[in-house]
Amino acid sequence: MEIVDYLKILQARWRIVAAVTVLGILGALCASLLSTPVYQASTRLFVSTSAGTSVNEALQGSQLSQQRVLSYTKLLTGRTLAQRTIDELGPRVVGGMSAEELASKVTATSAPDTVLIDLGVKDPSPELAREIANTLSSEFVALAKELETPENGGTPPARVVVEQQAQEPSVPVSPKTSRNLALGAVAGLVSGIALALIRDRLDNTVKDRRTVEEIAGSAMVGTIPFDKVVEVNHAITFSDGNSVSAEAFRELRTNLQFLEVDHPPRVIVVTSSLPSEGKTTTAVNIALVLAEAGKSVCLMEGDLRKPRVSKYLGLIGSVGVSSVLSGQATLDDVLQPTEFDGLTVLASGPIPPNPSELLGTDTAKHVLDELRARYDYVIIDASPLLPVTDAAVLAAMSDGALVIARHGSTKRDQLARAVGNLQSVGAHVLGTVITMTPSRGRNAYEYSYYYESDKSLPQLTAVPALSAHRSEVG
Ligand SMILES: Nc1ncnc2c1ncn2[C@@H]1O[C@H](COP(=O)(O)OP(=O)(O)O)[C@@H](O)[C@H]1O
Ligand SMILES: [Mg+2]
Repeated sequence: MEIVDYLKILQARWRIVAAVTVLGILGALCASLLSTPVYQASTRLFVSTSAGTSVNEALQGSQLSQQRVLSYTKLLTGRTLAQRTIDELGPRVVGGMSAEELASKVTATSAPDTVLIDLGVKDPSPELAREIANTLSSEFVALAKELETPENGGTPPARVVVEQQAQEPSVPVSPKTSRNLALGAVAGLVSGIALALIRDRLDNTVKDRRTVEEIAGSAMVGTIPFDKVVEVNHAITFSDGNSVSAEAFRELRTNLQFLEVDHPPRVIVVTSSLPSEGKTTTAVNIALVLAEAGKSVCLMEGDLRKPRVSKYLGLIGSVGVSSVLSGQATLDDVLQPTEFDGLTVLASGPIPPNPSELLGTDTAKHVLDELRARYDYVIIDASPLLPVTDAAVLAAMSDGALVIARHGSTKRDQLARAVGNLQSVGAHVLGTVITMTPSRGRNAYEYSYYYESDKSLPQLTAVPALSAHRSEVG
């Protein structure tokens, strides 16, 4: 994968990235709001040595001070000084604080080559921080004097002065809210990107032409976009013009007519792996788009378990295929003309207890032969392939099946098993159709991620020139 591919994944899955980044920021905000503010009071100590008169002595003195500074910083954070400070301040100020506890609040630093020591004392109470800093400093001056004074008396070689007393701090040193927020945002962004990439890796649903074609071993003949109008109305009004969905079905029609030009398929089963992948909607609109091109079409309900064709087209479903197969009616009794020119519907009839058995009978074969003789096309809306064998049975008796995969929903292995089920009964896979692809517009990027990048591949999908001639070939 190239960097652009990663960028495309991130753009397609930007919602995860954004959500995790916001979570990171909110987490940092909560942590900052919940933590107790801590104040730091600071003093500065100056270390001097009794300077000699000559330049040389002065230089030596200054070097001596610098060496001492390092030892002093250790003493400043030590237990001895902490205890002295506690004793000096008294329990009224410091409560039951132990020497270790006080020492842990103290930091002492010195810049190299200087004789200055910066002392910091942190505490949730700004007053106490200041008290401790000032008392600790003056106690240290005394301690240094004791340590430096030679045993026989005389002037100590080094001396410490409190150069700057501590003030009561007004702004806490922690939590550093803006720094925490920035860190939270960065951590969230990084985690969000990782999550998006992992999810893309783990996502084994089909989303692109290449994958579907590879798994099914058959060319893709149609890409049907998700369309809110189609979701509700199911049947596209082709006479109304050129909606994206109508154009998609016209392309599918063109591609169908280019399949096996010597023996063009006329009895076509529409099926898929599982329910709700768009079989019925697609079958209805394939029938309508063929009728639009002036063909006589019979749309047959092949899903006798969950028949939806008559419902989607507003027809009567109570008599149909099962009535004919059980000998209770003739074809002529149950074929229903529709409001659409050229389209006849053979509904399901009462739901039989044994659909696969019924569909596998010779009678069923005769019905299909009869329909083939009467119409240019017979489109059969079948059941899903994985739960039941009905569709495979029908596909074996027809010219072949169009296998539907739903974008971002059908899994690779489900599609593979569905195609396997067809092949195992000797049914022919005519081609594949991917349905409910993210439509152009708000999700245009996702669409282009999954489709436009495939433009370089050889495609069966109608090129504009073919579409322009469709009225002639159609
Ligand atoms: N192209 C589409 N755009 C929007 N919704 C669709 C589309 N195709 C199918 N649907 C919706 O998906 C659901 C399942 O469709 P359906 O055709 O009944 O699937 P199946 O026959 O595979 O069970 C229905 O609610 C239908 O309205
Ligand atoms: Mg259906």
